[in-house]
Amino acid sequence: MPDKEIGIQDYAMFRDYLERQCGIVLGDNKQYLVRSRLSPLLRRFNIANLPQLIGNVVNGRDRTLREAVIDAMTTNETLWFRDTYPFELLKNELLQKFKGKAGPLRIWSAACSSGQEPYSIAMSILEFLQRSPGAFPGGVQIVGTDISSDMLNRCKTAEYDNLSLSRGLSDERKRQFFEPTANGTMRLRSQVTNMVSFRPINLLESYSSLGKFDIVFCRNVLIYFSAQIKTQILQQIAAGLNKEGILFLGASESMSGLSDAFSMVRCNPGLYYLKKQ
Ligand SMILES: C[S@@+](CC[C@H](N)C(=O)[O-])C[C@H]1O[C@@H](n2cnc3c(N)ncnc32)[C@H](O)[C@@H]1O
Repeated sequence: MPDKEIGIQDYAMFRDYLERQCGIVLGDNKQYLVRSRLSPLLRRFNIANLPQLIGNVVNGRDRTLREAVIDAMTTNETLWFRDTYPFELLKNELLQKFKGKAGPLRIWSAACSSGQEPYSIAMSILEFLQRSPGAFPGGVQIVGTDISSDMLNRCKTAEYDNLSLSRGLSDERKRQFFEPTANGTMRLRSQVTNMVSFRPINLLESYSSLGKFDIVFCRNVLIYFSAQIKTQILQQIAAGLNKEGILFLGASESMSGLSDAFSMVRCNPGLYYLKKQ
């Protein structure tokens, strides 16, 4: 009976589980959301109904089911050059600060969804390098991470359909940085993809293995977490930033009351956070 309702206890158990696994806090009475996101998994995993699926994922050890549930419950909305200002600031002000850096310039796109953010960073850097060739003698490394294995697989194909290409990408950038594929989509050229690597990282776990970064984009993901988890993540990001390191949050996200490791730098338009000495 696939439409068997999710009872109060099952819902509470699933809510706890989801927050423990990936930090996402579900509000009260969001059974409808859980139902709509998880129902498609019943057939795939040959499970009779949602209470049973919830029981299996919470109490079982099936890694594929666990990943599929997390993939289904995460919101992956993203677009090219989202909010514009971070990429304009990067290209017109911030990259200048790192010019001539001996080692590689390292940038992290935490929670990169289907790749638009790290690839937009790469395109902004290539545009900067057109004006300042040889600015980064140690090279540029952009690391994109996400909890969702589905999203990371999409990132690695670097292939996008017309709908995603229509969201935030100018014709000029499409021409310059993409090439058509045989199946009607467009793929990013290797000059862009060569700059970016992808890894699975859960922001609730340790990310010291990623090494230190000069700039971190952690945008539109903290909104799903509790204040306590936001604080822990900001603390870990601060520890992973080099001296003078820079952090971008999402346009609707704020650090107020969560961390004193950063000072806010207001720009016109937009803002970023500078790691305190
Ligand atoms: C709304 S998208 C944001 C994408 C991009 N940063 C942007 O601003 O356009 C949020 C992403 O956070 C990821 N996410 C959710 N919980 C996470 C966690 N605990 N660790 C890492 N990534 C997570 C989701 O898989 C999703 O791809």
